[in-house]
Amino acid sequence: MTINRAEMLKILAEAMMPIEREYTDSELRVSGTLPPSLNGVLYRNGPGRFERGGVPYSHAFDGDGHLCRFEFAQGRVRYTNRFVRTRAYCAEEAAGRMLWRGFGTQKPGGLWTNGLRLRFKNAANTNVIWHGNRLLALWEGGAPHRLDPVTLATLGEEDFAGQLRNRFDPLSRWNSPLLPFSAHPQQDAETGELINFGLVLGHPSRLLLYRVDAQGMMAPPDVHQLDRFSFVHDIAVTARWICVLLPFADFDIPRALLGLQSPAASLKLDRDRPMQALLIPRAGGPTQLIDAVPGFIFHIAAASDRDDGGLDLRVIRYPNFPALGDVECFFREVEQTDGLPRLEWLQIDPAANRCSLSPCSEEVGFELPTVSPGPLGAKPRQIYGIGTPAGRRLPFFSAIQRFQMQTGELIQQDLGADLPGEPIPTAMRPDQEDWLLSLVYRAAERRSDLLVLRAADLAIQASIELPHAIPPGFHGCWVPTKPSPVG
Ligand SMILES: [Fe+2]
Repeated sequence: MTINRAEMLKILAEAMMPIEREYTDSELRVSGTLPPSLNGVLYRNGPGRFERGGVPYSHAFDGDGHLCRFEFAQGRVRYTNRFVRTRAYCAEEAAGRMLWRGFGTQKPGGLWTNGLRLRFKNAANTNVIWHGNRLLALWEGGAPHRLDPVTLATLGEEDFAGQLRNRFDPLSRWNSPLLPFSAHPQQDAETGELINFGLVLGHPSRLLLYRVDAQGMMAPPDVHQLDRFSFVHDIAVTARWICVLLPFADFDIPRALLGLQSPAASLKLDRDRPMQALLIPRAGGPTQLIDAVPGFIFHIAAASDRDDGGLDLRVIRYPNFPALGDVECFFREVEQTDGLPRLEWLQIDPAANRCSLSPCSEEVGFELPTVSPGPLGAKPRQIYGIGTPAGRRLPFFSAIQRFQMQTGELIQQDLGADLPGEPIPTAMRPDQEDWLLSLVYRAAERRSDLLVLRAADLAIQASIELPHAIPPGFHGCWVPTKPSPVG
């Protein structure tokens, strides 16, 4: 199949149209047969609108968070979708215009409306988790939003009984009354414990580490001072270590503060310096900083301890820092595939203070990696993700793929011109394979379908038709037991 650049950009523009309607418990049409064993609820988050008052957001990451809920029961699927009613979303809906700066979007009005405004809109658009009887929509620069798991009604910001309250200096507290809780918490499937982080910009910049038990009780955060600002989207947690990969980033505070440019535009990564791996022993003790590898990593697919004391990470590494949020960044140069993110094996040897990198799958791009849940640090058997179809010259993420850890085998389900989302496994153990659920934008129909694929061979088992299109989004979760509504 050949798709030219103009067609790709047209498909992307159509896929990014804002969501106009919210549905409540609507039954969806199913093609194929749903597995009788597939009972539970899929939640998925992503940006759902990209403009306000006719002014487009400059950055896809600023799109307002929009949740989908698919309830599977007795071979049927029911669908509910809602925008997350954050304070900013409600105020902007009422005003009919943009009231906040976004991570990559300036308010209309230039310096007068952007200068000295360092409170950015919490877009609540990156991930959704079910933990401690709470459904939480996550965004890495702010606090989570709690939602009703049945109606998706927004219940407000979650501060974990006050533990997320910012107790640093007055300027930090004014700027961010609640501490950031990143969009990639790591959950131990055996103990239910959740480990997450947040980065607070300042002098000094701080890394906060959070531990939340299975009942949702958060311990006071651990605070690690960083000797420089950095930008981190995901961390690795094993039985022994918390590993944070820190790129050399610089944030032009004066330009962002004066409103001369957006925070995203004020963020510069030093491409000539390798990232550093910050190793924090989970049992306590001194931390260690090791020069790692060049490039940039959004997602860590898997992390495990080695018997020799080292760590094995499977990472999705970009050779350079990509144009953040610019969905066209992989599509500008038809013949250019050098900038694609790839699945790689990063070995960290704390005793020798050294890292090494080797490819897992050289031929194709890889993003939005997922694994079946397990204890933290368990080595997965497979890594799923979206990818670029092998042999196709265009860097178009239109395949769902499965990488077998032991054999290195990679298989794909090529969806042609359609755009798949993160494939979410329904198996609840690392040694199990069951089904994958992926929200796919159908280019020809200008609509989205939820695909059910057999995880072992990526065969399509069923296709569930949505009544509208959902823009390409980020992360979600599978909950095998239907959560009860908030009473
Ligand atoms: Fe992510």
